[in-house]
Amino acid sequence: MNQTVRKAVFPVAGLGTRFLPATKALPKEMLPIVDRPLIQYAVDEAREAGIEEFIFVTGRAKTAIEDHFDRSYELERSLEDSGNFQSLDGVREWVPEPGQISYTRQQQPLGLGHAVWCARYSIGDEPFAVLLADDLILARPTCLKQMVEAYREVGGNLVAVEDVPKEETGKYGILDVLDEKGKLVRAGGLIEKPEPAKAPSTLSIVGRYILHPSILTELNKQERGTDDEIQLTDAMARSISATPLHGFRFEGTRYDCGNRLGYIEANLAYALDREDMKEDVVKIIKKYS
Ligand code: G1P
Repeated sequence: MNQTVRKAVFPVAGLGTRFLPATKALPKEMLPIVDRPLIQYAVDEAREAGIEEFIFVTGRAKTAIEDHFDRSYELERSLEDSGNFQSLDGVREWVPEPGQISYTRQQQPLGLGHAVWCARYSIGDEPFAVLLADDLILARPTCLKQMVEAYREVGGNLVAVEDVPKEETGKYGILDVLDEKGKLVRAGGLIEKPEPAKAPSTLSIVGRYILHPSILTELNKQERGTDDEIQLTDAMARSISATPLHGFRFEGTRYDCGNRLGYIEANLAYALDREDMKEDVVKIIKKYS
């Protein structure tokens, strides 16, 4: 099978209850890090990795995401008229070409595996990426780009991984490690959100995947797992003998923007990473420390 990864799935149907009331009417993926919404970082990362088709799995009350990736003629005209060309580039240059983005809905919150399965007709029969916008990764080259290169060698299913403190294994998919070679970790199995005593390692899945299309056949079975949800982790675990699974230790820093402290840290880190802001942000941090 051709190992080129052209398509990416963005599951964005989640409710974002940890950020209420901010996310009552605003999709959590639209929360800004400095001046860009989380979802835009994920789309930009995918584009840099060579992705050509962006498949969003959305839900009710998520139309702000569709509007964000559309042209906004009134806004563009007004910026043009006032000669504000810098802002004009800022709203226009990253909008994908017509037809590059498609949207499908996850009608019920049945889990990440179910969300990916909802995109099966758009994915077809080729390897594809999955990006969870909550996991923001500051890396150069981007995490997905690093993975796309590794995928050419290993194929199968590939997930980004990093070590977490033992007491946190219950928040992630955790790998059972067979052996390691460089950045690649061959897994003998994996478990979704095991309590620390039952965790086979501390190597956790971060929200970047490159999946073989056979995962869709596994997801067709609609088997429920942890939290009574259809888990992507379980589908990868069940297919492991036919489709090898590797973890990829990416280079970069991951910020868990699914919780408030991780989100605040990401804002600071991304502001400090910007040449135009760094000095002023350092002053502010000093003022409060
Ligand atoms: C999901 C996956 C989990 C993975 C995590 C990464 O969990 O189910 O395996 O480790 O994303 O962020 P969620 O955070 O959606 O509960």
